[in-house]
Parts: sequence; C-alpha cells; structure tokens
Amino acid sequence: MIVGVCKETEALEKRVALTPEGTEKLSKMGLTIYIESESGLASSYSDQQYIDSGAEIKKRNQILSETDLLLAVQAPLAEDLEKMKKNSALIAFLWPLQHKKYVDFLLNADLTGMAMDTIPRISRAQSMDALSSMSNIAGYKAALLGANHLDRYLPMMMTAAGTIPPAKVLVLGAGVAGLQAIATAKRLGAVVEAFDIRPAVKEQVESLGAKFVEVPLEEESETKGGYAKELSDQNKEKQREVIHKHVAKSDIVITTALIPGKPAPQLITRQMVEDMSAGSVIIDIAAEQGGNCEVTEPGKTIRHNEVIVDGPLNLPSSLAHHASKLYSKNILSLLDLLIKDGQPNFNFDDEIIANATVTHNGELISPFVKENMK
Ligand SMILES: NC(=O)c1ccc[n+]([C@@H]2O[C@H](COP(=O)([O-])OP(=O)(O)OC[C@H]3O[C@@H](n4cnc5c(N)ncnc54)[C@H](O)[C@@H]3O)[C@@H](O)[C@H]2O)c1
Repeated sequence: MIVGVCKETEALEKRVALTPEGTEKLSKMGLTIYIESESGLASSYSDQQYIDSGAEIKKRNQILSETDLLLAVQAPLAEDLEKMKKNSALIAFLWPLQHKKYVDFLLNADLTGMAMDTIPRISRAQSMDALSSMSNIAGYKAALLGANHLDRYLPMMMTAAGTIPPAKVLVLGAGVAGLQAIATAKRLGAVVEAFDIRPAVKEQVESLGAKFVEVPLEEESETKGGYAKELSDQNKEKQREVIHKHVAKSDIVITTALIPGKPAPQLITRQMVEDMSAGSVIIDIAAEQGGNCEVTEPGKTIRHNEVIVDGPLNLPSSLAHHASKLYSKNILSLLDLLIKDGQPNFNFDDEIIANATVTHNGELISPFVKENMK
C-alpha cells in the first residue's frame, strides 16, 4: 500500500500531515511512503529527514495518481482530488458539515474521505483527537499574542522604579483552547478570570488557578455530547450584562467560544470594546467562525477606539513544527486502528472508524455527519 503526502496549498498552511518520525513508523509497518519535495519545509522538516526515514520523494501528480491513502492537513483542492486514484482514500480536516459540496465531490469521485474532525471525542480516541491537539496550540498562542500586543507587563513587577500590578486577563470559552490560554496567561504571571456556559468547566478553570465568572443561566447549556448549546435571547442578554463589567476592567480578553456547526456566538459587543481602556487587547480566536467580538475582522489586527482587536486565522499553523508532530501522531493512532495486514480495514462496527469515515464506495457513512446534516 502506498501512503502519499503532498505539499499543502492553502496560503496560511505551514503544517505537514506526516513527520519524518511518522514516516519511519509507517515504513516499519511495511507501507511505502511517497512525499512531495518540500512538503515539510515550512514546519522545519527537510526532504533529507524524510528520505532517511524511508520515504521516496515523488512529483505531486504521481503521488496523487498512485497513492492508496493520501494524508493531508487541509482538504485538498478539487483539482487534486480529480487526479486521485479511483477508490483511494484521503485523511484530512474535511469539516463535512460546513463543506457539503466537497462531500458530494468525494461521493461522485468514489473516494473514501476520512475527517480528522469527526472522530468521536471518546477516551479510546484521545490519541487521535486532532481537534484537541490543535486547540491546545491555539489557546497557547492566543495568550502569547495577547502578551505581545499589550504595552504592559503581565506579571507583577517590583522594581526600584516602582511596583507594577499584574495584568488582568479574561478568557471567554473554557474548552480545550480556553483552558490552555488560561494556563499560559497564568504562567506569564497574569491574574486570570474565565467564563463558559458549561457549568462543568468551573472546576477545571479553578484548578488552573483562575477565577470562574458566574452567570446564572436558567436553561440547559450543554448537549449530551458535552458541547455547548446556543442560548436563548434572554440568557444571551443576561450573559452580556455580566461579561460587560469584566471586559471593561480587563487588559487582555481572549475569546474562544464555539458552538459546533453554528457561527461563533457574539459575546463582546461594540459598546463593550468602547468601554475598555486604551491599550487593552482582544484576541478573538473564534475569528474563523465569524468571531466572538462584534468588531473582529477575521485575519486582521485592527484598532477600535485605541483597543487592539486581533482575529487570527489558523493559529496552529503558527507553531507548525509541533503542530505537525502532534497531528502526525494523531493520524498514526488512527492508522493503527484502521490498517490491518498492510491494508485499510473499513470496519464500520467500530464507532471511531464509522464516524471518521465521511464517504466510502460512493456512500455517506459517518453516523455523526448523517445526523447533523439533517
Ligand atoms: N476525549 C475527550 O473526552 C474530549 C477531548 C476534548 C474535548 N472534549 C470535550 O469536548 C467539549 C468541547 O471542547 P472544545 O474545546 O472542542 O469546545 P469548542 O471548541 O466547541 O468550544 C469552546 C468552548 O466555548 C464554549 N462556549 C460556547 N458558547 C459559549 C458562550 N456563549 N459563552 C461562553 N462560552 C461558550 C464551549 O462550552 C466550549 O467550552 C468539552 O466538553 C470537552 O471537555 C472531550
């Protein structure tokens, strides 16, 4: 079986789906690895490292037409899919609920599409959970970006020239990214507060040494799967009232709130931004899904009334070396489950394989995707 990796084509994408370390493991499993020259360059992995790990450097078209299993970070372009071998498989972040036309394309081309983003988040699949690996990086980087934009210290400083109080950081949304943003801001010495609509998060926030902002909500805010639900208009207003006061006194606000399959909830209004002090910073890492702040411009850093509002895109790519290392490990864990006797074994009785497999043999497979596409 041939496993292929091509250079990523998206402008902001520096990650690679398979590292030399991953290549070595797949080679030892008896698989042949084809890789396009310079696929790992932007994440500091050289062609020579891939060759030393057992890969063969091949031209893009040959990889696409001969590969049985293509590994990628971003979903490859349609023009690449058209060149892929019939009945071959692709593993990448496919976001099938957001890209239904892409799913149709895979179905019509008889390609198997496995989405790293639809692997169920159960304990057995933890080592394959690329959403968590990447969110962790995004949260870490968000805290660093906040510190970098701020024209003040984060830790308390006692110097001969006077004492500087610690900066106040507010994190909205305490999922994987938010918790890592809290931990990183704490390590940098800030005083951190956080809020999430899932009550279960309070304990996790406090265990990181941050204060949990309480907003009494009179409705169920969490799905059975542990994700957030969209709030009613009444509770959204209630949440905004409480958050407004905390935003106004914060030096850095990091927003990470997402609701699966929906645009990001708007938590920070224009008025709240205008009530922040000059020089304060908002890092809105929900920018990719429209942003949690009303004035965020995705992909840009703007100044609104002397407040810096940054809506970065693809933060994991900015830590490409480690992001690739973790993503490659997540993929390898999935392959450990998928590959039997050197061939993919699409055992749909296994809930991980079933949910990750969006398309196979011209059919929609993933129960998760089917349910949520309704
Ligand atoms: N293997 C596992 O068991 C595993 C792994 C990772 C995550 N999870 C769980 O998955 C869930 C989601 O994690 P995620 O980081 O992917 O979440 P996410 O990226 O979907 O959302 C980020 C956070 O935003 C919060 N949020 C949504 N609307 C909000 C609002 N209006 N105000 C404030 N916060 C709001 C969510 O509650 C969530 O904590 C969590 O329960 C997490 O523990 C489980």
